[in-house]
Amino acid sequence: MPITSTPAQTPVQAPALHDPLVLPNGQTLKNRTAKAAMEEALAEAGQLPGISSQKLYRRWAEGGAGLLITGNVMVAPDALTGPGGLVLEAGTPLAPYADWARAAHAGGARLWMQINHPGRQVFAALGNPGYAPSEVALDMGKFGKHFAPVRALTVAEIAGIVRRFADTARAAREAGFDGVQIHAAHGYLLSQFLSPLANRREDGYGGPIAHRARLLIEVVRAVKAVAGPDFAVAVKLNSADFQRGGFDEADARAVIGLLNAEGIDLLELSGGSYESPAMQGRTADGRTLAREAYFLEFAQDLARLAHMPVMTTGGIRRRAVAQQVLASGVAVVGLGTALAYEPDLPTQWTTVEAVAEPVAVNWKNKAISGLATMALARRQLRRMASGDEPTRNVSPFITLVLDRWRASRLTKRYLRWRQSAAASAR
Ligand SMILES: Cc1cc2nc3c(=O)[nH]c(=O)nc-3n(C[C@H](O)[C@H](O)[C@H](O)COP(=O)(O)O)c2cc1C
Repeated sequence: MPITSTPAQTPVQAPALHDPLVLPNGQTLKNRTAKAAMEEALAEAGQLPGISSQKLYRRWAEGGAGLLITGNVMVAPDALTGPGGLVLEAGTPLAPYADWARAAHAGGARLWMQINHPGRQVFAALGNPGYAPSEVALDMGKFGKHFAPVRALTVAEIAGIVRRFADTARAAREAGFDGVQIHAAHGYLLSQFLSPLANRREDGYGGPIAHRARLLIEVVRAVKAVAGPDFAVAVKLNSADFQRGGFDEADARAVIGLLNAEGIDLLELSGGSYESPAMQGRTADGRTLAREAYFLEFAQDLARLAHMPVMTTGGIRRRAVAQQVLASGVAVVGLGTALAYEPDLPTQWTTVEAVAEPVAVNWKNKAISGLATMALARRQLRRMASGDEPTRNVSPFITLVLDRWRASRLTKRYLRWRQSAAASAR
């Protein structure tokens, strides 16, 4: 709710970070800080979570956030954001997911699974096509060759993907998760459909924003149909893609209008894509983002339209900024990188102004700097997953080399898994 204080009204007090939040479906978050989704890349054989995922989430659970949103879990085995990613589909064994959920519940936080289909943002080395709304390749300059060739989805395939989101949500519920967050941001499949640059379809899924949003709305409905009353359904949406001619704030407003009618429980606002990594504070259209809480201005504006509570994530590292987010009418503060380096921040903020200080990488090549920054965050997750604490005492260069080496090892394992699945299907 926006904070208003006209003379005739009593000023509305901004909630405090430790205040609970009751969501539209009745689920309560014990406070206003959420760990935003960060792909853990910790999958074990069969793209399943194991002990390392449990340890990592137990650590975050101890840190005091009210909501833990997992890194994106894939709805299809032939569409992974990376080779260490998790897959949950109909028929996947549930025990590893149930063990993960039990560990994450150790501190009283709610646990939601982020569910995703990456669409065309997939690496060629994984051997699958880049499923997309239209045959429009990613514009990644000289990095373009690392991405899979793009193929437009048929209407029947789109219906299959909608079913997959519902299957994954049902499985998450059965495994003990408290909700799902549908990933419609950062240039992945649902975000590609929303974008007029990536979506050039001329059928009911392309054209005006109401058509471009049709896949997202179908996914929300299918997921809500399997959710049950106590299982939260949330959406992560870009406030804008920050690309000329791309999904913009007017589009975001229109999508929020459509989502208002669907009764979702939380809307997380972010921004950007692989082509324009605004979620890392960099844009392709040259627009400048706030130095901290990158999307707050957009979120504050969009929260006025939204019937559901809004969360914003991006660049929040200090308590004063987190408090400013709440004072702006945004209900939940999303923390990604900050909790990779300082998992206890939510608890610390109940008493002191602690700050998370990620390792900064300022190499001349911005794209490689971005990769190193992500690799450094992932390294902190791996440390916590093996029982160590995060550390700033790491070399960005060595971390990036190790990250690439690890990705190539995991790629080989993924390809073997796919081959054996194909062989047993024959
Ligand atoms: C290592 C890493 C992995 C990420 N994986 C995901 C993901 O799986 N899903 C998602 O929506 N965002 C993902 N993000 C983006 C974060 O959720 C967040 O939107 C972004 O990092 C900006 O917030 P921050 O400045 O608090 O990190 C990831 C970020 C990092 C650093």
